[in-house]
Amino acid sequence: MVKKVVLAYSGGLDTSVMVKWIQEHYGSEVVTVTLDVGQGKDLKAIEEKAWMLGVVNHYSIDAREEFVNDYVVPAIKANALYMDAYPVSSSLSRPLIASKLVEVAEKEGADAVAHGCTGKGNDQVRFDITIKSLNPDLRIIAPVREWNMTRDKEIEWAKEHGVPVPVTADSPYSIDQNLWGRSIECGIIEHPDVEPPEEVFEWTAPIEETPDEPEYITIGFEEGAPASLNGEEMTPLEIIEEVQGIAGKHGVGRIDHMEDRIVGLKSREVYEAPAATVILKAHADLEKMVLTRHEKLFKRHVDHEWAVLVYTGLWMDPLKEALDAFIEKTQERVTGEVTVKLFKGNAQVVGRSSPSSLYDLSLATYDITTTFDQTAAIGFIELWGLPTVTYWALKRKQGRVPLQQRTAIP
Ligand code: ARG
Repeated sequence: MVKKVVLAYSGGLDTSVMVKWIQEHYGSEVVTVTLDVGQGKDLKAIEEKAWMLGVVNHYSIDAREEFVNDYVVPAIKANALYMDAYPVSSSLSRPLIASKLVEVAEKEGADAVAHGCTGKGNDQVRFDITIKSLNPDLRIIAPVREWNMTRDKEIEWAKEHGVPVPVTADSPYSIDQNLWGRSIECGIIEHPDVEPPEEVFEWTAPIEETPDEPEYITIGFEEGAPASLNGEEMTPLEIIEEVQGIAGKHGVGRIDHMEDRIVGLKSREVYEAPAATVILKAHADLEKMVLTRHEKLFKRHVDHEWAVLVYTGLWMDPLKEALDAFIEKTQERVTGEVTVKLFKGNAQVVGRSSPSSLYDLSLATYDITTTFDQTAAIGFIELWGLPTVTYWALKRKQGRVPLQQRTAIP
């Protein structure tokens, strides 16, 4: 028996049908929750639609600042790219949405929460684990996992039950977007050998139409978080919004790759993430200037683990908290400015500076004035190469074959 369900409501066809479907199948009241995570949708219109569908309550929550500060900024500090490509934009929003669902459910005295995830994707994993971690007593309803309706059947069902079917319902694409990125799935995109048609892109210009002059932007970081743009102090949210437009105009941030989903299948994924592409590049570059070689090499592993955890729905795992502690410590010195050149789909770091820079010109220069003691290199090489040289000495002693000469010396 379910009396009250709190539904994550996007205003789209699936979740709109869900309001009616839950009312009908569970005979329960429905409360809808819509978060603004920078998806650029009119929350007022979404709320009106929810009321029209007969919800008993609706919550519109502007979660943009929280999303940026508690989810996106940690991802920047972790240089988070799943499979070296995807800035985990959708992955990041799920634990936030799930935690708001739980909060509202507790406030409303609801006995269940609901979301519109399919049974084939990653999002269900992320939602469910976060919800179960925060409140195991809440029942989770995921109608799309149960109802087995085709798109046509769903539209028919919607019409029969007075759910408005948007004229765009025949778009073959499934889109999920927030201020960190935009994911486009379904339709022709499911064929990995076919180039995504231009119509799927909204945030990035095709290279053919980008400006013929490069544009330079300078991003300032304060302890790992974006803090200024072109010398002007701004919040991370403002910087992301600004860079989104500039980089998109230059065609920067289109991602097209093969992705390993949590549920075991491969999928071809297409994204637009102009701001993420530029900011992550700039941040990673600054780290190379201020972290020691040892820190940087070790952090690669931590960063990779962080991205995999977040992608695979384990935002709530204590391992992530432990990795965050390490990452946070490394970010204390990640302060400085990075200049990026945007041109014809490329974002190239062309300059960086930092008060914590470990770069020492007098050491690095090939100029005669260098303070680097070149005679010290001889002893260093002696010890550094000792294991390798020892191995080869033994190999010769044992009469084992010398190096094969692939190219004969004339
Ligand atoms: N493949 C991406 C991920 O798993 C994008 C998911 C997009 N979600 C969606 N409901 N369309 O994070």
